[in-house]
Amino acid sequence: MARAPEDNPFTPGFGNLPRVFAGRRHEFADLDLMVERLGRGVYEQARLVTADRGFGKTTLLREFEEEQLEAERWVVRASATTGDAVIGRLCRQLADLLAAHDLGGSLSRQAREALQRLAGLSIGPAGVSVELSPAPTADRGVELERLLAAVAQLAREHGTVLLMLVDEAQNIALDALGQLFHAIQEVQTKIVTTRDPVSRATRREALPFGVVIAGLPGLVGRLQQAGSTFGERSKPLPLAPFGDADMREGFRALVREGGADIDAEAVDVLMAGCGGYPYFFHVVGHEAWNAGTGRVVTAADAREGVAAARPLVAELYEQRLAELGQKQRDYLVAAAAVPAEERTSSEVAMAIGVSTAALGSTLQALTDRHGLLRRGAEGRLVFTLTGMDRYLAERAEASEK
Ligand SMILES: Nc1ncnc2c1ncn2[C@@H]1O[C@H](COP(=O)(O)OP(=O)(O)OP(=O)(O)O)[C@@H](O)[C@H]1O
Ligand SMILES: [Mg+2]
Repeated sequence: MARAPEDNPFTPGFGNLPRVFAGRRHEFADLDLMVERLGRGVYEQARLVTADRGFGKTTLLREFEEEQLEAERWVVRASATTGDAVIGRLCRQLADLLAAHDLGGSLSRQAREALQRLAGLSIGPAGVSVELSPAPTADRGVELERLLAAVAQLAREHGTVLLMLVDEAQNIALDALGQLFHAIQEVQTKIVTTRDPVSRATRREALPFGVVIAGLPGLVGRLQQAGSTFGERSKPLPLAPFGDADMREGFRALVREGGADIDAEAVDVLMAGCGGYPYFFHVVGHEAWNAGTGRVVTAADAREGVAAARPLVAELYEQRLAELGQKQRDYLVAAAAVPAEERTSSEVAMAIGVSTAALGSTLQALTDRHGLLRRGAEGRLVFTLTGMDRYLAERAEASEK
């Protein structure tokens, strides 16, 4: 037997690092250049990675983190949950980072106090300790700015770059979102002035502080709601579906990683089966691998894999539909029946037979709370999960029969 299920290199799931990272060259090159420039004291805009669920935001952040840690950069990464806990998490990471570099004693008194007030953490030459009750903070944004600036300054003194990665940023409560992003902007635009000892010329440098924020596309709207200009000031890095070349290379690389080969026709079948959606890429790949035992994954295996993936994909859609109330479900079904290029809120309302206004809160819940629809170009509504519209339309058709 040349290939076995236990060697399957495909790993369907969310937030898990793939055995081989595929594509995203443009995004990676941009992030690498950002760090290089920051290392030279040049200001670099924060990066805003936005994409719908399962497009690879977390994977990109973690791959980038791994690469940067290898290059001895200082990295803190936190994933936000609903509320403001992400600020405490970032503080903890900053404290642990300093402790790991034996720099607990080098932090200024002001920054140490900020850490105490923000997260109830006390840091000194002996390391980090948790205090029972964090002191109340007068202004969290200012304290955060102080702490970040102090750590970035230490990074500068140690010839490295401090990188802050925040995932799932759409979850952050509005007040915390405003404070966090204000602090980031302040630190990123701080100037360190030095004088060349020989020419006496003044040099202005930015602190080596790089920021990558990832979230669902609705994040940009939330930033505006929080009164933050961060969305406009940062550089957007939207993740699109995998292009054909990346997908082709990705399938080949993963199959090879598992110790097998794949023929060209099989790659085409899998590509069509996943539509460039990274999450489905693993689902169809996984099933195609398990469809046979030969050394080469054939087109027949691929077709069998795509067919076997169908119920799994359906299950993913059904899980998301289960979160919804009847009105929201009806809305989605009606939206799916409208052709994608004509799918606006007024067309959907017309299909249901009520006014657009009467459906306002239903649509809002679907875009903001459940993230299943989003507003695309020219007021069109887009299903965020690839293929969900087709699934709903087929299901409705089948139930009519
Ligand atoms: N560049 C890539 N190469 C190979 N596999 C990838 C890549 N990007 C993402 N994947 C795979 O796709 C799946 C979804 O990726 P990930 O969890 O990073 O998405 P996400 O955008 O963070 O989703 P969510 O919004 O739900 O958190 C994972 O199984 C991951 O391993
Ligand atoms: Mg994620």
